[in-house]
Amino acid sequence: MQISSRAQNIEPFYVMEVAKAASALAAQVAHTDAPMVFLNIGEPDFTAPPLVQEAAQRAVHHGHSQYTAATGLPQLRERISAWYASRFGVQVPASRIVVTAGASAALHLACLALIESGDEILMPDPSYPCNRHFVSAAEGKAVLIPTTAEERFQLSAAKVEAAWGPRTRGVLLASPSNPTGTSIHPDELRRIHQVVQARGGITMVDEIYLALSHDAQFGQTALALDDQIISINSFSKYFNMTGWRLGWMVVPEALVSVVERLAQNLFICPSTIAQHAALACFEDASLALYEQRRAEFKARRDYFIPQLNALGLTVPVMPDGAFYAWADCSELCRKLGIKDSWDFAFEVMNRAHVATTPGRDFGTAQTVQFVRFSTASSMQQLETAITRIRAML
Ligand SMILES: Cc1ncc(COP(=O)(O)O)c(C=O)c1O
Repeated sequence: MQISSRAQNIEPFYVMEVAKAASALAAQVAHTDAPMVFLNIGEPDFTAPPLVQEAAQRAVHHGHSQYTAATGLPQLRERISAWYASRFGVQVPASRIVVTAGASAALHLACLALIESGDEILMPDPSYPCNRHFVSAAEGKAVLIPTTAEERFQLSAAKVEAAWGPRTRGVLLASPSNPTGTSIHPDELRRIHQVVQARGGITMVDEIYLALSHDAQFGQTALALDDQIISINSFSKYFNMTGWRLGWMVVPEALVSVVERLAQNLFICPSTIAQHAALACFEDASLALYEQRRAEFKARRDYFIPQLNALGLTVPVMPDGAFYAWADCSELCRKLGIKDSWDFAFEVMNRAHVATTPGRDFGTAQTVQFVRFSTASSMQQLETAITRIRAML
């Protein structure tokens, strides 16, 4: 069967190989005194709050399951708009908010709406692999720009300017980032956006981890800078609803009808039950719980990063958000005679029964040196992981 070049251009998700191996080993060691600790998974160990679960049950019970508008339930768009005002002090009219099947569908729609075949989108290396694949699915080309710890593993205006070529269409950042948990400084983002605007390009910012920010200087939405910026967001991470498949995007007014037309045709609408449930995310009790959980994520970070550093798994920049640790294992690899972060991940998995994610999927620049740990597991799991890796070393 002839496979399209579009599909062939999507690189394999190598992490799944590691995840598969971890699951297979987990089954073997499940009943030993060292069951597998999964720190390779990028999703909260919390589930949706009680009010959200009850709202979903009510929607099912009352048969609120017909298609909604392609842009989402009007009351949900209003609630998201009100959340921008209360949480970030930013006015985002509901008319610019498009509810989607997770940030993934939002990224897909944004890329389809804006990228011509052969267009280039600049992104930091390392970055979340699927984001470059949304660009290739739209027949564009993701251009990964190597970043440094000093840049918080984010793009700089100087690098964007230097990399801008005749086919460049814009930039796609994630702040805070997966895999580093580090955000772009707002001044740098402003400068990047100026460079992009001066060239008639587009600035897209994936803000799926924004509400899981632990540092006020980075915790502001890019929408505060300019209403021409496209912001991608989700109910997956802060709102603990990964499998419900719900997210949203905020687009400039002029783009709404184009995105709506694409969404109508490609998805009809996001899950109706999930949308009814998500209305309850913005109740006071749910928001209070989310803030408690955010504090728990911060406590985990504050415990885990110094522990990794002490083991020689150096985290060059303290993550200011999300729940990841991007750790340099090159020194330990040298000491232990291990080739690179890929082999290191397997070594830690096989010997310490701790699953991590090797850097390979996130780019090419320095990724053989880095492994990603997710700190979205309980404190007890994190402590077990540290004890076991220490013993292994
Ligand atoms: C940076 C980033 N963007 C987008 C996504 C996709 O999230 P969603 O579940 O909302 O589709 C993820 C998921 O891990 C992510 O890390």
